[in-house]
Amino acid sequence: MSTLVIGGAGYIGAHVVRLLLERGEDVVVVDDLSTGAADRVGAATLVELDVAGDGAQTSLERVMSERAVTSVIHFAARKQVGESVARPAWYYQQNVGGLANVLAAMENAGVRNMIFSSSAAVYGMPPVELVGEDVECRPINPYGETKLVGEWLLADCGRAWGLRWTALRYFNVAGAGWPDLGDPAVLNLVPMVLDRLERGDRPKIFGDDYPTPDGTCIRDYIHVLDLAQAHLAAMDHLTSDAEPTEHVFNVGTGTGASVKEVVDEIGRASGLDVTAEVEARRAGDPPQLVAAADRIGEVLSWKAEHGLTDIIRSAWEAWQAGPRRIG
Ligand code: UFG
Repeated sequence: MSTLVIGGAGYIGAHVVRLLLERGEDVVVVDDLSTGAADRVGAATLVELDVAGDGAQTSLERVMSERAVTSVIHFAARKQVGESVARPAWYYQQNVGGLANVLAAMENAGVRNMIFSSSAAVYGMPPVELVGEDVECRPINPYGETKLVGEWLLADCGRAWGLRWTALRYFNVAGAGWPDLGDPAVLNLVPMVLDRLERGDRPKIFGDDYPTPDGTCIRDYIHVLDLAQAHLAAMDHLTSDAEPTEHVFNVGTGTGASVKEVVDEIGRASGLDVTAEVEARRAGDPPQLVAAADRIGEVLSWKAEHGLTDIIRSAWEAWQAGPRRIG
């Protein structure tokens, strides 16, 4: 019996793989290594395969049968909002097409359990202070749409052939559980600030005139190790005898931090001068996006152990360990 982690060589996936290996599970990783790295999967078996590519379904079915896979954790996806706006059809091919191939293979191979990486991007610009799972989903870009469509597809497979599934809607993921597993991309606030500091540039703040206490955008930052633990909690719940009552969970802390607070925390962790340049607002940024995180606590008994200080300290430590691969 083994767990198949698709996208297990990526930033979040590699944390889940390491935790699964630590608790003695047999793990197979499928990854196309387009943004992941082979040295992140440790003792797991790595199969290099693009789930959205030609013949992917057949190859996946073979892996599932040969390795007696009983559960799948599906991370593999494109996640750049701006790129999704520029290349919508490709995003649907990659994110929805890839998931469809995985699910078709699971149906044929008789694999019934799936944990899916969803995103707070499904909510768009929700008009509430704390976003609960039942808020109406109105994604504002193709990336968020592909995650919402993914959830619908899982629900359809649940009805059609008894797929047992859980979608985790991640808020703002940062930090590192181990120094060698830092975020390899420079796409989000924390690595973008660290990257500018490394180059001797000042951090950028995209807008300080939002209707928030210090004028900068507020987000719910979640430590990647806490997020990885949430996957294990979700998997344990899914594979227990109990019939799942909820399928969709926010993974956040319920507490927000502003861009300025994050930048200041980076200054404290690094000892560097983080005096920032304020730029114009970035299109499509909601002033505040913070999770209502009660459901995951009640149903999965999970809660975040690490706050912003741990997140930033671990990100700084991993950044110094380097190397970054994707810019
Ligand atoms: N920001 C800066 N300076 C930077 C980088 C970011 O001020 O150099 C600001 C952004 O404008 C935003 C905040 O920092 O206000 C966080 O930005 P990120 O790009 O790190 O994260 P987002 O909240 O925009 O995006 C995250 C995920 C997306 C997901 C989105 C919505 O990265 O995948 O949440 O849930 F789609």
